[in-house]
Amino acid sequence: MQEKPTINLGLEGIYFGESRIAMIDGINGRLYYCGYSIESLADNSTYEETCYLILHGRLPKGEELEKFSAMMKESRDIPQNILDLIKDMAKTAMPMDILRTAMSALPAYQKKQSGNPDEENFAESINIISKSTSIIAAIERIRKGLDYIKPDHSLGHAANFLYMLKGTAPDSKHARILDIMMILHAEHGSNASTFTAIAAASTLSDLYSAIVAGICALKGPLHGGADEASLSMLYAIGEPENTSTYIDDALSGKKRIMGFGHRIYKNYDPRARIIKKYLEELEGDADEKIRKLAKIEMEAEKIMIERLGKQKGIWPNVDFFSGPVYLSLGIPKEIFTPLFAASRSVGWCAHVIEYWKNNRLIRPLDYYSGEIDLEYKPISER
Ligand code: CMC
Repeated sequence: MQEKPTINLGLEGIYFGESRIAMIDGINGRLYYCGYSIESLADNSTYEETCYLILHGRLPKGEELEKFSAMMKESRDIPQNILDLIKDMAKTAMPMDILRTAMSALPAYQKKQSGNPDEENFAESINIISKSTSIIAAIERIRKGLDYIKPDHSLGHAANFLYMLKGTAPDSKHARILDIMMILHAEHGSNASTFTAIAAASTLSDLYSAIVAGICALKGPLHGGADEASLSMLYAIGEPENTSTYIDDALSGKKRIMGFGHRIYKNYDPRARIIKKYLEELEGDADEKIRKLAKIEMEAEKIMIERLGKQKGIWPNVDFFSGPVYLSLGIPKEIFTPLFAASRSVGWCAHVIEYWKNNRLIRPLDYYSGEIDLEYKPISER
């Protein structure tokens, strides 16, 4: 038998390639997209500009951003066949499952643009990024028995999503906060979903297939699904004064507190810090229910940092404060994770395209620990 090799469960600590897209400094709790700190992008950029940065590796000049934003707007509307598919699935399926299936169906109704692979990848990326938010707005409205609202080309990406979701002109403060939420979720290195997208793409499969693979991996509660799971936990806690008992019971039962901990960050996730700031800003105008959720969060944050922060490096992550922020913007919890997927689609596209430039089939090993040379017995003798 082969000698047992060192096994890195969860591929922890393994480098599989080089990238110029995101740099995460987990020890100091810092994040950069193409060299720009997440704080400077959240303060100064827009989702459209950040998408350009992630796809091209540099900030756009004025004309370039105008052209890029126009292309994103032109790609917003979704084909009738996809709307029919959503209508059919909305009766029984959850939004994340509908998004996955709709994304998978999208290329069937999309004309190939140019034949030049670089241009094609770029056009497909824009199509994926733009249409994913339109698909989510359509899913949510159709689930509620409402009509699909066509995109408004006078609005930016985040504002248009709110308009397509609610049918009214969005409040500019809400639109800007959603824009920032989308910037914060746009990219995060080779996490589980990005790696899954790259692994699919490494077989020279196509971009849409890679994005569908990314959506599948993002769905779980250890990854993107933690935003919804974290809000469900706040509802389960119910009242701020129940928080410490809930956390102590969960920790003594070896349960995970959703929205805390990270494989890379052993410090405060910088995205969570920014989201917390916007939660505090929104809280004043929020209704009683949301204010109560925010109180539970502040209490849970304090208790978790005392119990696990310094000892184990378990701090709030991007999914902890997002729930009440999204609720304050009128975004229901069933579409939190789909919205995460839509925001992250740019990161997935950029990583896949970058990987294809120096493609190598991803094929790790597992150590076989079973038996060999067993005698095959006919079924009657087993
Ligand atoms: N609550 C309680 N204990 C935790 C948590 C948590 N959220 N996260 C880690 N721990 C403990 C864990 O039990 C273990 O303790 P011990 O050493 O006593 O066995 C220790 O911390 C190390 O945990 P680990 O499982 O080795 O850590 P990991 O790197 O595999 O886990 C994680 C990363 C995100 C899966 C985990 O922290 C977790 O399950 N968090 C809750 C789910 C969550 O919020 N996910 C979103 C992550 S950020 C956004 C994204 O990537 O999508």
